Amino acid sequence: MPEKARVGVLISGRGSNMAALIYASRADDCPYEIVLVAANDPAAPGLALAAAEGIPTFAQPHQGLKRAEFDALIEAELARHGVEYVALAGYMRLLSGGFVARWQGRCLNIHPSLLPAHKGLDVHEAVLAAGETVTGCTVHLVTPELDGGPILGQTRVAVLPGDTPDSLATRVHYAEHQLYPRVLAGLVRAETGPEALLGRIRNLALALPEAEEKLSHGMNGFFVRGGKFFAYFIRDQHGDGITALLVKADGLEEQAQLIENDSNLYYRPAYFGPSGWIGIRLDTGDNDWSHIDDWLTRSWRASAPKRLAMLPF
Ligand code: GRF
Repeated sequence: MPEKARVGVLISGRGSNMAALIYASRADDCPYEIVLVAANDPAAPGLALAAAEGIPTFAQPHQGLKRAEFDALIEAELARHGVEYVALAGYMRLLSGGFVARWQGRCLNIHPSLLPAHKGLDVHEAVLAAGETVTGCTVHLVTPELDGGPILGQTRVAVLPGDTPDSLATRVHYAEHQLYPRVLAGLVRAETGPEALLGRIRNLALALPEAEEKLSHGMNGFFVRGGKFFAYFIRDQHGDGITALLVKADGLEEQAQLIENDSNLYYRPAYFGPSGWIGIRLDTGDNDWSHIDDWLTRSWRASAPKRLAMLPF
């Protein structure tokens, strides 16, 4: 089972969206796990729920601290827990520019309106005052502009006659609880799933001189023009769910040695194994891309015609 992406949730209050993210993460096929819940208010009720569910919590009142100082404390905690994505869930505090920049593309927020309509606070009051018949919720990436980042997903919610801000908030919350886990999972999958991994491998492989790609037995193969295949991208090839890169090892001895040294990373691929190819897992959630690049280069050299293999790079 590939490792799950590590998510930190920031809250200020009730934390019902946090709870939705936690419970969704318990599904086997959910690609993320919640590894930290942090709050800027030690009394935030969501903290107790997270703790009861066995999730590490961190609470730090922001009073008396400059914005960047406070965010540095939060970031230190995120780093300590190996957080890769930050989900804001009712986090009632503006983030410093540095924080937003460092987490760009990996920090999400949920807002109880169909953005770009009704940014900011008191959203349900504003929706009712405007006489809207439809509202909803939005998950978006966090950028320096408040509630203004790229929209990742939205759910529409009907406004009923006689709705009050509270009754509307309750129904919008139902929608939020469905939307947030789905969008977060989608973002993680888009970045860590097989398509994204193939994209990275392709970028590295095709950067090598005279490298080309073609499908070979259902696998994406990379070969040197006039030479041989130097890499294959494997995706659930034998119904085993494995995503991996196959490259040329020096021979069976090195293959065995690699597997013995790190059996989480290396494996002997079916069919290719006997001819000295080595499988490198890409689905451990912890890819060392410069190491993978080195392997591709090495394998390319072993497969390129002499005139190319001598090139200094
Ligand atoms: C939600 O309505 C969310 O859209 C907004 O703050 C509220 C948080 O609610 N950003 P909860 O703490 O998740 O229950």
